[in-house]
Amino acid sequence: MKPINVGLLGIGTVGGGTWTVLTRNAAEITRRAGRPISITTVADRDLDRAREVTKGQAKLVDDAFSVCKDPEIDIVVELIGGYTVAKDLVLTAIENGKHVVTANKALLALHGNEIFTAAQKKGVMVAFEAAVAGGIPIIKALREGLTANRIEWLAGIINGTTNFILSEMRDKGLPFDVVLKEAQALGYAEADPTFDIEGNDAAHKATLMASIAFGVPTQYERAHIEGITKLDARDIAYAEELGYRIKLLGIAKKRDDGIELRVHPTLIPARRLLANVEGAMNAVLVKGDAVGPTLYYGQGAGDEPTASAVIADLVDVTRMHTADPEHRVPHLAFQPDQLEDLKVLPIEQCRCGFYMRMRVEDKPGVLADITRILADNEISIDALIQKEPAEGESQTDVILLTHVTVEGNANQAIAQIEALPVVAGEVTRLRMEQLDR
Ligand code: HSE
Repeated sequence: MKPINVGLLGIGTVGGGTWTVLTRNAAEITRRAGRPISITTVADRDLDRAREVTKGQAKLVDDAFSVCKDPEIDIVVELIGGYTVAKDLVLTAIENGKHVVTANKALLALHGNEIFTAAQKKGVMVAFEAAVAGGIPIIKALREGLTANRIEWLAGIINGTTNFILSEMRDKGLPFDVVLKEAQALGYAEADPTFDIEGNDAAHKATLMASIAFGVPTQYERAHIEGITKLDARDIAYAEELGYRIKLLGIAKKRDDGIELRVHPTLIPARRLLANVEGAMNAVLVKGDAVGPTLYYGQGAGDEPTASAVIADLVDVTRMHTADPEHRVPHLAFQPDQLEDLKVLPIEQCRCGFYMRMRVEDKPGVLADITRILADNEISIDALIQKEPAEGESQTDVILLTHVTVEGNANQAIAQIEALPVVAGEVTRLRMEQLDR
C-alpha cells in the first residue's frame, strides 16, 4: 500500500530517535499501521547533521515552512520546540490541511486552545503524546483508556531533571546548587535549566493533562508554579524522619467550584509507589472514580523513549486520517462543544496538608502559642517534632505537619506565627499530599 508521507521538522535528539526507530522497526510498524510510514522530507538548519542521520533516504531542506505547504506531505512532525516559529509552522501546516504530530508541550500549554480550534475547523488531527512524560503513553491512557471514568485527580513526577536532583539531594544530603552542577555535568540538566528547575516544564505538562482529564480549555497562565531552587536539604531530611519524600509534583484536581492546577515540591508518604520513582524517571498517578488509582511509569525524556511516543501518534494518525473527523478521538478527549468553562482556582483556595519548619526559642509556652494560632485558623496538627537545641544554643527547630486545610488559612497562620517574638525568621512551608483518596 502507498506509504503515508511525513515531513519532519527538526532532526535533533528526538527527531534523530524518530528516524532511527521508524527505520529499525519499519516492518513491525507497517503491520500495525496498515501501510508504511515514510519520512520523505526533513527540515533542519543543520543540513550536515540531517544528512548524517538520513543517509540520502530523505529530501533535506532548510525551509521548514516549505514542508508545511508541500502537497506531497500528509503529516508534519514538529520537533523544533519553543512557541514562536513553532506556532507559525504548526498553524501553517494545519492551514494547508496537514495532520500534525508534536512533542511541544510549551506550545500547546500556551496556545493549545487556538491550535486545536484551527485543527478542528480544518478537520485535521494534532497529536501530542510525546509532549507529556516522554515515552509514557499517558495521553492515550487519559484520553481513551480511562474514558469511562470521572477523573478526580492526577499527580505526576513529570520532569526528570528535577527528580534526578531531588533523588541526589536526598541520597547524598547535598545542597541544590551542588547537585545541579553534577546534573549538568552528567547531561541530566541543560546548560540553561531554568524551565526545568523553576517548574515551568512540569506545569506545561500538567496543564495538558488537566485539560484532557477534566475536559476544560488549557489554562497554563492560571497554574501555580513553584520549582525546587529554594528547597533546603534540611527539609528533605526532616521529611524523611517523618516518613515522607519530597517530589516535584504536577497536580490537577477537579472540584465542583473549579480546578486545582499546581506544580510545587510536595511531601508524599514514603510508602507510596510514586515516592519511590527515582532518578530521571517519570510517573503519573491518576485517580478515576470507577477504576480507582492507576500508575504509569517510564522514561520521560531521551531520543528513543520520546520517539516511541511520536511514532505511536504517527500510527494513530495513519489509521484514522481517512475517518470522518467527528469520529476521531477529540483533541482534548471531550467533544469540542462539550468543554466545560471550569476555571483554575487561585492557590489561596487550594486544599492540602502543610509541612512547616520554624526556628523558635526553647522556652515554656512557645509550642502552646504556635498550636493556638493553628487552632484559631482551623488547622489541625497531624505530627510534630521538636529538636533538642544544639549545645550552647537557646533556639531549636520545630517541624509540624498539618491535616488538609485551605492554603489561605495556612498563610494567615504562618504570618501570625512569624510575628511571635519567640519565632526567629520565616517559617519554611511545603505542601503535602497523601494521594490516597
Ligand atoms: N526537560 C524535561 C525533563 C524533558 O527533564 O524531564 C522534556 O520535557
